[in-house]
Amino acid sequence: MTTTALTTSFLSTALISSDSQFRAKKGRCSNIRIASSVDCCSTSRCTSIGESGESGNRILCGRRGLVFMASLPCFLPLPADAAQLDGIDYSIMKREIGKVLSKGKAAGMLRLVFHDAGTYDTQDSSGGMNGSIILELDRPENTGLNKSVKIVKKAKSEVDTVIPVSWADMIAVAGAEAVSLCGGPTIPIRLGRMDSMEADPEGKLPEETLDASSLKQCFQQKGFSVQELVALSGAHTLGNKGFGNPTVFDNSYYKILLEKPWVNSGGMTNMIGLPTDRALAEDKECLRWIEKYANDQSSFFNDFSSAYKKLVNSGARWKTV
Ligand code: HEM
Repeated sequence: MTTTALTTSFLSTALISSDSQFRAKKGRCSNIRIASSVDCCSTSRCTSIGESGESGNRILCGRRGLVFMASLPCFLPLPADAAQLDGIDYSIMKREIGKVLSKGKAAGMLRLVFHDAGTYDTQDSSGGMNGSIILELDRPENTGLNKSVKIVKKAKSEVDTVIPVSWADMIAVAGAEAVSLCGGPTIPIRLGRMDSMEADPEGKLPEETLDASSLKQCFQQKGFSVQELVALSGAHTLGNKGFGNPTVFDNSYYKILLEKPWVNSGGMTNMIGLPTDRALAEDKECLRWIEKYANDQSSFFNDFSSAYKKLVNSGARWKTV
């Protein structure tokens, strides 16, 4: 055997056998020493992974990282989406979120996703899905989101004992789980986002008083088309804004936008929808999509899934080796 083959063989045996130890001793990275003893991760590349303070552990502790490291030449960069391949991490996250999430908490969870990711600005690449929402809870637009953060925190602290995970990944997955729990589409989420250590710039989320043209411009600046704006706004089917059952994710948002119950009537019907929701129904370009989604729920589910994936990848910085 060549030296490389010997080293690889040693790593495979040592790391894989220590992996079962790791799983048995939940939360303890008994294999860190083994990996570092062959100095596999002392290059600047590996150091840069560790910058987040957690991805380094992830590489050393996660079974995927270990097997991957053992089966490839050392220092070969991991593909940016390697974490997506790790079904084990993903199912642990989903399991823990499932324990703390209920239909009644789903709307707040989905809103939390938008308030983390929706700060993204393509012009200067600031903001986005980076977990910074936890530093921004005192902003007026984030009122009430501390409850959703607490729920994610519970699940995150459990996941962290097995494999360190970023807030951004946890929130992205929690939002997708909220949608599916309420009967919406199942949306697979790529993992590996890194958290920002600082708050995003202020004033990036759309105000509820925007007219259609400003709303379109606002979403365009975040990288979204008009169709994606309309599909994402369908998230308002959850919650208490009057778009059908508050805990059922379906296309009633669009059906009610077409009915316009607020026209020619005062009183309670004025409580239905936000000004931005109503503005969409007055815009020709948006109306085309509203009609499509009102008539075809599966097309809404497909387009919502794609737009949601784009939302939770907005401005994300990914762990790489
Ligand atoms: C189009 C621009 C948007 C505006 C102006 C907007 C604004 C708002 C406002 C003012 C609320 C009410 C908060 C409250 O009850 O106090 C709300 C609720 C909500 N928003 Fe949005 N939002 C927008 C887009 C989105 C998007 C893109 C998503 C997710 C993909 C989203 C998810 C939600 C959800 C699920 C709720 C209900 C929260 C609950 O009842 O707890 N919103 N939004």
